[in-house]
Amino acid sequence: MLELKNICVSFRSERQEKIFGTTRTQVLFDVCLSVPQGTCLGILGESGSGKSTLGKVICGLLKPDKGEVKMDGTSVYGSRAGRKNLQKRLSVVFQDYTTSANPRFRVKDLIGEGLAARERKNRERLDRQEETRKLLELVGLDESYASRFPHELSGGQLQRVCIARAVACQPEMILFDEAVSSLDAHTQVQVMDLLLDLKKKLGLTYIFITHDLTSVTYFCDDVMFLYRGRVTEHLPVSRIADTKDPYARRLLDSIIDFEEDDCHEAV
Ligand SMILES: Nc1ncnc2c1ncn2[C@@H]1O[C@H](COP(=O)(O)OP(=O)(O)O)[C@@H](O)[C@H]1O
Ligand SMILES: [Mg+2]
Repeated sequence: MLELKNICVSFRSERQEKIFGTTRTQVLFDVCLSVPQGTCLGILGESGSGKSTLGKVICGLLKPDKGEVKMDGTSVYGSRAGRKNLQKRLSVVFQDYTTSANPRFRVKDLIGEGLAARERKNRERLDRQEETRKLLELVGLDESYASRFPHELSGGQLQRVCIARAVACQPEMILFDEAVSSLDAHTQVQVMDLLLDLKKKLGLTYIFITHDLTSVTYFCDDVMFLYRGRVTEHLPVSRIADTKDPYARRLLDSIIDFEEDDCHEAV
């Protein structure tokens, strides 16, 4: 469904040598990936490895220096129509749900942004109140939340609202950038279960960016490791134990160590 070929991205360096022109720091090196319809791809890497930059390239916000992004065969950066096509079909949920939700908006207005996008896309008028109720129900919140402000919700509830907003425009694919990372472990599992449920009900395709290996094994079909801007491995989650990527190995070994420690304690 989505395909990236040889994506390279660089940013202008902070220390600029005026005499020699600007220097650039490369952040992504020849990144390739593909996401078949109905699957979930995990993008895993430590902080600063270029995950969010890759996310921006995927959702049409950052044109790469080199390489191609294709959505069902149509190039995203090749034309305005390409970008429109992507916007219609892809929604994004960010980590920072506190800033991605305007604090002066009520829940119904936040979800209304997604509904407005659907109205534009399908050229239709929706019963906003009824649609909002349905979406809240879908993410496990009742109608009474519609008139609340973001600060009147817990982190998990607000993230549910952001998810409702993302599905309101009826996307085919959703990109999550560290969307559950700042929630506590229990809420993380609840939100991931909700996402799995939505994926099945709505036939969605996911890209799930995270630094957390456990959520990838819980949630994804395939996993791709990003290390200092390079893809070091791309394999099914079921074969994750076979990985030769050094960063992935370290992560896996630390989890195994941890589990062994638990066993010792139990003994
Ligand atoms: N707009 C930008 N301008 C300059 N450098 C950037 C910009 N965005 C990201 N970077 C740099 O790119 C690298 C990768 O960042 P990022 O993609 O946010 O990593 P991650 O999400 O994996 O933590 C970092 O070194 C960061 O400083
Ligand atoms: Mg990031």
